[in-house]
Amino acid sequence: MIDRRAFLKQSGATATVATLGGCSGYEKIATVGVPRSDFDADSTAEEVTEGIDLSGKLAVVTGCTSGIGFETMRVLAQRGALVVGTSRSLEKARAACSRAPGLTSPAELELSDYESIVNCANAIRMVNMPLDILVCNAGYLGGSGKPELVNGVEKHFAINHLGHYVFVNRLLGRLYMSWQGRIVVVASRAAYTRAPEAGIELDNLGATYGYDDLRAYGQSKLANVLFALQLGRLLRGTRITANALHPGVINTEIDRNMSRIKQVGFALLTSLGGGKTIEEGAATSCFVATSPLLGSTSGRYFEDCNAVTVTGNNHMHDESLAEELWRVSENLTRDYLVSHDGPDLNDYERAMQKRKSRQE
Ligand SMILES: NC(=O)c1ccc[n+]([C@@H]2O[C@H](COP(=O)([O-])OP(=O)(O)OC[C@H]3O[C@@H](n4cnc5c(N)ncnc54)[C@H](OP(=O)(O)O)[C@@H]3O)[C@@H](O)[C@H]2O)c1
Repeated sequence: MIDRRAFLKQSGATATVATLGGCSGYEKIATVGVPRSDFDADSTAEEVTEGIDLSGKLAVVTGCTSGIGFETMRVLAQRGALVVGTSRSLEKARAACSRAPGLTSPAELELSDYESIVNCANAIRMVNMPLDILVCNAGYLGGSGKPELVNGVEKHFAINHLGHYVFVNRLLGRLYMSWQGRIVVVASRAAYTRAPEAGIELDNLGATYGYDDLRAYGQSKLANVLFALQLGRLLRGTRITANALHPGVINTEIDRNMSRIKQVGFALLTSLGGGKTIEEGAATSCFVATSPLLGSTSGRYFEDCNAVTVTGNNHMHDESLAEELWRVSENLTRDYLVSHDGPDLNDYERAMQKRKSRQE
């Protein structure tokens, strides 16, 4: 049997799998202070969660209808969690949930629409349970070559970053109530291979100059990484952790907006080698969401089930940019945010009372 990754390494073909985050010219070193796992690029989501019992836990996975999100939902449910899976279409979420054995529940979420985000978070809060795992997985990659705006903001940034920024904010109260709440942000290597020189062009969020689909995608994925970095700092001292990750390069529906020819190229590259299977692609998300090794690991970036520090010319660990991004994101979404001085225990109490009175 051919080892796909080894084969590609030898043939030098990995450099061409750059579209969604292939990597050359960067070095990664193991992050100091984070326990190493025995898992790697070949591990699957089932393998990394083997023996972990998630019974009684509540998880949310955004973008559960295909690719990595579906596999993440399937495996978390298989391990006993109740998993709320979201899609822009309730019908599609229902169909995905019915394909996953175990306890799953569909919800509608359009990340480019703040009302939809608030409604979805409110519906999840009504589940009356602490939220243990929140996987911000849904992602958008455009293919038209022209900038599109959502509320005046470039679409990749709006969906991949700002949408999840508001969603996390609305669910933080429930995460506080978990014994150990975990926020898992699915980013991409594109965060350092494709992002603009400045990292995030905070003066160009309306995409008035220099637009390119992959550059905009890379910028939004860097925003995912910096979001987790800043969350990790802000949540220090609480029991909530936040980490970001690159899942690998996987032939999913992420290329749905690309031209047919690019889709064929992507399919060929991922199937010939260098790419992961979907089962492998969901491994890092499931590992970060559940591993007992990571109870107090926060603000880190993972690839192939281990925390890595990316060296060289990039903004992956840029704390001042993360802080600035947070401030700008807050200003852009202010009308949809709730403030968190602490856990909203009153809210939780009210929900528990409601459930009790319904049962009586
Ligand atoms: N595949 C790769 O090689 C690769 C590499 C690096 C990073 N990633 C990241 O991995 C994550 C999962 O991607 P995937 O590869 O599994 O792609 P996928 O098969 O296209 O899945 C993306 C999911 O996101 C949801 N989604 C898309 N736009 C949305 C929006 N506006 N609002 C709410 N949900 C939306 C989709 O749900 P509906 O269409 O049902 O609404 C779908 O379930 C993404 O964040 C992606 O950036 C993927």
